[in-house]
Amino acid sequence: MLPPEKRVKQMPDKKMPDKKKVLLVFGTRPEAIKMAPLVRVLQADERFDARVAVTAQHREMLDQVMECFDISADHDLNMMKHGQTLSDITAGALCGLQAIIAEERPDVVLVHGDTTTTLAGALAAFYEKVPLGHVEAGLRTGDKFAPYPEEMNRCLTGQLADYHFAPTETSRDNLLRAQVAAQNIFVTGNTVIDALLQTVESGCDLAEYIDAPVDWSKKILLLTCHRRENWGEPMRGIFRAVREIADEMADELQVVCPVHKNPLVRELAAELMGDAPNIHLIEPLEYRPFSKLMSVSHLIVTDSGGVQEEAPALGKPVLVLREVTERPEAVAAGTVRLIGNSYDSVNEGIRLLLTDAGVYNAMANAANPYGDGHAAEYIRDILAKVL
Ligand code: UD1
Ligand code: UDP
Repeated sequence: MLPPEKRVKQMPDKKMPDKKKVLLVFGTRPEAIKMAPLVRVLQADERFDARVAVTAQHREMLDQVMECFDISADHDLNMMKHGQTLSDITAGALCGLQAIIAEERPDVVLVHGDTTTTLAGALAAFYEKVPLGHVEAGLRTGDKFAPYPEEMNRCLTGQLADYHFAPTETSRDNLLRAQVAAQNIFVTGNTVIDALLQTVESGCDLAEYIDAPVDWSKKILLLTCHRRENWGEPMRGIFRAVREIADEMADELQVVCPVHKNPLVRELAAELMGDAPNIHLIEPLEYRPFSKLMSVSHLIVTDSGGVQEEAPALGKPVLVLREVTERPEAVAAGTVRLIGNSYDSVNEGIRLLLTDAGVYNAMANAANPYGDGHAAEYIRDILAKVL
């Protein structure tokens, strides 16, 4: 892997005449996955000069996505450090991004979703008085601390944005309730479906990416867990519950868990699940094999936002390790169930799905409410009109 300074493309600094300059800002794995389709359609369109600035709030997990979608950064703040606080990330990203926006003077800055990079990018655009587009706008739980800090990052970014690209009618309604003018809200679907469909179609051989001794003839339970609200006791309860079920159902169940790079998550996963022969703790997977892994799984247990949106498109039941979700559409469609994050509720939720075929089939046959796989093109065409 090249060092960050070598990965940055050499591009002319001047704005190309007659083209609208768009600066796409992101920094974590999920933002990169969901912005990648947009980077690609904008860069392929002669009406736009599309540039990419990454904070690299994530490093390895971001780089995996950049490689998968064959996109590169024009600016890379290379910010990831172990043990940073939210304030550290916010302050670093804000200063770094403001300087980039001042240098680039784009016609619009695009941020995505709800991370600290998102909020910092939005604020930096505001300080530079550059118009802001918010991709995946309008998701809400109504609870300031769940997800934390994402709910507030999203609300504040919504206050700063000029163009709101809402994935669903539900998110549009949330924005209307927050007094956003209707003419600035555009319902586009979620670009994650674009990313997923493009990736799943191209296929891949899981054995090339996973060298753990997974018995693929058994039922696969895919587990991911990384959220701040679950750090500590809740995560301990979640991993204990999964371990207990894996031990009991050793003859029929294999658990595959790509473990987030966060050391807090890794230590607990290793302590509570590391020595179970049918639980496979593996490194974060590149997006292509991860999509394939979702598609071959029997069920998915996760606290991820993106996975909640992707799995319904693959017809996979999802049990969500949270008390509330800002993505109620798939719950309403019947393909996602919230099972909370306590040992008891997780234990009960997973057991029900593994033992009750009726419940399983109802969840596996529900529809994807998050879009038709063309969200990036809709956003591109809206930008062409409004800029
Ligand atoms: C961040 C986002 C969260 C998003 C998640 C997706 C914030 C506050 N949080 O949470 O909204 O859901 O990304 O995964 O913006 N690390 C590595 N390598 C990597 C990535 C992370 O080593 O490639 C480790 C580092 O020790 C880092 C830690 O993970 O300090 C946590 O990363 P951070 O971006 O602070 O928070 P996430 O929990 O990843
Ligand atoms: N993902 C991946 N490899 C993995 C785990 C997840 O590519 O090992 C993808 C997943 O398909 C989804 C995104 O990463 O698109 C979700 O990222 P994460 O759970 O870190 O963040 P969240 O969605 O919770 O913000």
